[in-house]
Order: sequence, then C-alpha cells, then structure tokens
Amino acid sequence: MRTQSNNTNAPIGIFDSGLGGLTVLKKIQEKLPNENYIYYGDTINLPYGTKSNQSIVQYSKQIINFLIKQNVKTIVCACNSASSVAINQIKQNINIPIFEVINPAVQEAVHYTKTNHIAIIGTDTTIKSKSYSKKIKALNPEINTIEIATPLLVPIIEEGLENTSIANEMSKLYCQKIINSKFDTLILGCTHYPMIEGLLKKILTHKIRLISSGKPVAINLYNYLNKHDLINNSLSANTQYYVSDNIEKFQQSASKFLNHSIDDVALHNFKS
Ligand code: DGL
Repeated sequence: MRTQSNNTNAPIGIFDSGLGGLTVLKKIQEKLPNENYIYYGDTINLPYGTKSNQSIVQYSKQIINFLIKQNVKTIVCACNSASSVAINQIKQNINIPIFEVINPAVQEAVHYTKTNHIAIIGTDTTIKSKSYSKKIKALNPEINTIEIATPLLVPIIEEGLENTSIANEMSKLYCQKIINSKFDTLILGCTHYPMIEGLLKKILTHKIRLISSGKPVAINLYNYLNKHDLINNSLSANTQYYVSDNIEKFQQSASKFLNHSIDDVALHNFKS
C-alpha cells in the first residue's frame, strides 16, 4: 500500500492527458499560491476521451505511481475521462487522497439549478460512463439531465483553434438541443472546455450557468489541507511540469491556459 507524505512542503501532484488540467491547476494556484506543484500532461496518450477504459486505467496508474515517487502529499486527477472510469478503482490500492473532478461540479450544479434541468458536455468516455447523470440523480432524482458527447472540442482546443469559426460551428452543432431550452445549468465536463467558455456563452443565448470543476476542486483541496495542517506557507513555491511528449508544443500552448509563460517542463514517459 502506497502511503502519503505528511510534509507540508511536499508538492501537490496534478495530472491530465494534456493541457486541460492547467485550467484546474490555475484555480488551485489562486486558492493555494504557496504550494509546490508537479503537473503531468500525458501528451503522448492524448486524447484520453476516445481510449478504452482499460487504457485510461493503465495511463492513470502509471502517472499516479510516478507522482507518489515524487513524494506528493496529495493528487488531483484533473481529467474527467480518468475521473469517470479509472480513479475509483485505483484509489482502492493507494493510501493517499486523490481528488477527482466530477463530484465537485455535480454538487455545484445541483445546488444551482432552479428548473431541475442540467446539461453536461464531455468526451466520449465521460459521457458513455454516465458518471455525471448517476451522481446528479443520486443527489436529486427529480433532476433531468442531458449528456452530450463533444469529442472534437479537445483536439480543436489542443490545436489552438478555440477562437476560430471551426470551434464556433462545432459548439453550435453540439449544443443544438440546449439552446433556448429549460436547461439552466451546463457542466463543462472536460477540463479543456473552460477555454471556450466565452464562446459557449455567446451561443447559448438564454440564461444558463456554466459550471467548471476548477474552482470547487480548489475549495475541496484547500479544506482538506487546512483540516490536516498540510498547507504550505513557504514563499518559494515552485511548479514543475512533466509531459510524455513534445515539450515545445506544451510550453507554447500552456501560456494561453495559465496567462503566463512556463519554462520548467521536462520529458518523462513510461515507454522506456
Ligand atoms: N481534459 C480531459 C477531460 O477532462 C481529457 C480530454 C481528453 O484527453 O480526451 O476529460
């Protein structure tokens, strides 16, 4: 059984298939600015959302083991696809808290909806797993849900095309059923999607709240660290990035997600 580092200076590990998890890292860093972070982007296996559950479990396991070897005090799985199909299983064999991104968004959405209509957009894997609907119904069976797979949005965002007509047309097509509808809450069930939040707001002209997991995950993590006296107050906080492929591309795009440039990016993959 793997155990956790109880050192306040120990880093927090965060991972995703690529850039998307940076939207979560950003919110966490706003809430916990003095922590050390290790971010892992599994760019060689991107996208996760089209892979089998078995592959996603394998990718997530190897990253989690890598992060544990770096003595992290906790891990955030900043990927909805992995949170949907891998984390519950992996959690059983490790003794370190792993935060996922589904429950926090569900709780916020259930709390917010007035019409009892919640829409969810996500990758094929996330939508097929029905993880959002199941959790929403468990909290309130009266709530109606619609889950829409939007598989082309991740490659569009990873390619830096989020401000183009391609992104606009695809988002319109995907959102057809919820434009001017009873759905007053939309969960962005993929950590890449906050990058097109403005675009989605423009397309969905009726009153609808967009919910991303970054902020509620950051609050949960803060509460956990606070409760266990694990908050780091050091003023020399550092973030180390690892990717499994293509450092330059990650570095270039990351600045758009974080609003600042990064240089501490190293290559680490599990092939060798
Ligand atoms: N950003 C991830 C998610 O939240 C993964 C997207 C992908 O790799 O397909 O689902």
